[in-house]
Amino acid sequence: MKIIADELKDLTPAQMERLRDMIRSEQETSGEVIAADEKRAREMLTDYYRSLSEGSSQKSNDTQHREHWDEDLIRFSPFLRRKEGFSWISVYFEPERYPEAVEMARQAQSEMRKMIFRGIDFGKVEAVLDIGAGYASDLLYLGHLYPHLQLTGYNISPEQVRIGNDKARNSGMGERFMVVLGDSAKDEFPGQFDVILSFQVIHHIQDKQRALLNVSTHLKGGGYFLLVEIMSTLTHPIEAPESSAYFAPRETWANMLAAARLRIVEGVDAAAEISNFLYDPRFEEYLGGLVPAEDLNTRAHLRGPHQLGDLLGKGLATYAVLTIQKDPYLEEADLRRINRRELHRLIPYADVAWDEARSCPLLLDAWPERLATISCLRQEVLEAPAEQRHALVSERLCNLFAEVLGTEKSSFDTETELVSLVSLGFDSLSALDLGRRVESELGVHLSASLYYMARNIGELASLIVASLAVGEEAIDEQLLRAIEGMSEEEAEALLVEGAKPEKPA
Ligand SMILES: C[S@@+](CC[C@H](N)C(=O)[O-])C[C@H]1O[C@@H](n2cnc3c(N)ncnc32)[C@H](O)[C@@H]1O
Repeated sequence: MKIIADELKDLTPAQMERLRDMIRSEQETSGEVIAADEKRAREMLTDYYRSLSEGSSQKSNDTQHREHWDEDLIRFSPFLRRKEGFSWISVYFEPERYPEAVEMARQAQSEMRKMIFRGIDFGKVEAVLDIGAGYASDLLYLGHLYPHLQLTGYNISPEQVRIGNDKARNSGMGERFMVVLGDSAKDEFPGQFDVILSFQVIHHIQDKQRALLNVSTHLKGGGYFLLVEIMSTLTHPIEAPESSAYFAPRETWANMLAAARLRIVEGVDAAAEISNFLYDPRFEEYLGGLVPAEDLNTRAHLRGPHQLGDLLGKGLATYAVLTIQKDPYLEEADLRRINRRELHRLIPYADVAWDEARSCPLLLDAWPERLATISCLRQEVLEAPAEQRHALVSERLCNLFAEVLGTEKSSFDTETELVSLVSLGFDSLSALDLGRRVESELGVHLSASLYYMARNIGELASLIVASLAVGEEAIDEQLLRAIEGMSEEEAEALLVEGAKPEKPA
């Protein structure tokens, strides 16, 4: 069999030149497209924050608000239960009209903040960086509590940088507090830090790996990275470019953090509580009254969190609050394994018993291991005779549709038309929800659109059974493709690695 290099040797100089040209122009075009996409995405996000800041500078002229301006609300607050009549969008845009709602959100935020900072001995910390500082509220908070800290904020929004620096000047903290304009995914941070904060920032960034490498490069060995982030609980990302939201799956996060030498120490999941905060049955009505119809960008960026509330409530995404440490010593594979494990056993926020007196240790008290329930359905179907598989899958699908739509299982059978389910509330979110359940029970990933395209439940079951049957072959084909794309050196390196004895546990 000819190897690739031999094939290339057979080409004439002219053919070789043409091949080089083709590769070059393909790289340039794809580079240009990516750069233009990134630029557009950045503009959409900064335009949105500009429109929020316009509201904010009006607010800071309001005396009552100024007393609390270290508490400007820009991230979500965890509510243990839904609050009747609460509307987060009204709190953002008209805080002076809803002082009680603002206070509720502020209190919940303050509890969450203590939880995020739990256990870090800031007395021993010198320098803190916030990589998406918003209105610099967290830095201001730390600066008041710990007068020795050097505080640096980073932010892509010029308006927020200006407001942050106004706050820094008025706080009397002088040189030790500043906010810098920059893109955390691209620009080098100024200096080395003991603690780096990133609260609801990285889901806006497409090249997350680059941002995390930037964090790691500027974090001292053993330093802490406090991350609050929304992650997809599916095996694939959930993306909504119109609201600058890119939620990567937990698996990808585990790998990206490991590649940046970052190890998760422990984590809390506030998905249910943030979903309560974002729940607002009158959202569209308020949005209509607060943001002009022609401001499509701001409207899309506000609809994003509204839809996120649903995703979090359905368990399709998680709101993770993570304590992470830079660990230059463990091997990447071990970091990956630890990160994956921690991301799958996040402690529910409601279970975090906040104890003011002890002011919470870094490692929360022993938590019961949350054992993943692994379904045997996939095995059962694969072991069943071919003619019985369809019935097994259909039966389970009827149950799953009932669970997702909150109705009786007896309402469904193989003949149930999927279009008829729309009137029962079957929408794109329910399709994602159903997909996640099918994936976790049967190990089959179907694109969400298939849940619409299949005519009835029976047809959907056939698709799933067919995917299960070709599962093994598909893997072989993937392997073949990977082998074909491999260089001789890579193949040899892989063989040598395979011959190595297992590492002792
Ligand atoms: C949802 S707000 C959160 C702000 C703040 N961390 C908080 O928790 O209140 C997201 C922040 O990240 C900033 N941001 C988004 N992308 C960024 C980037 N690539 N580089 C720096 N800042 C960014 C935004 O300007 C905004 O201040």
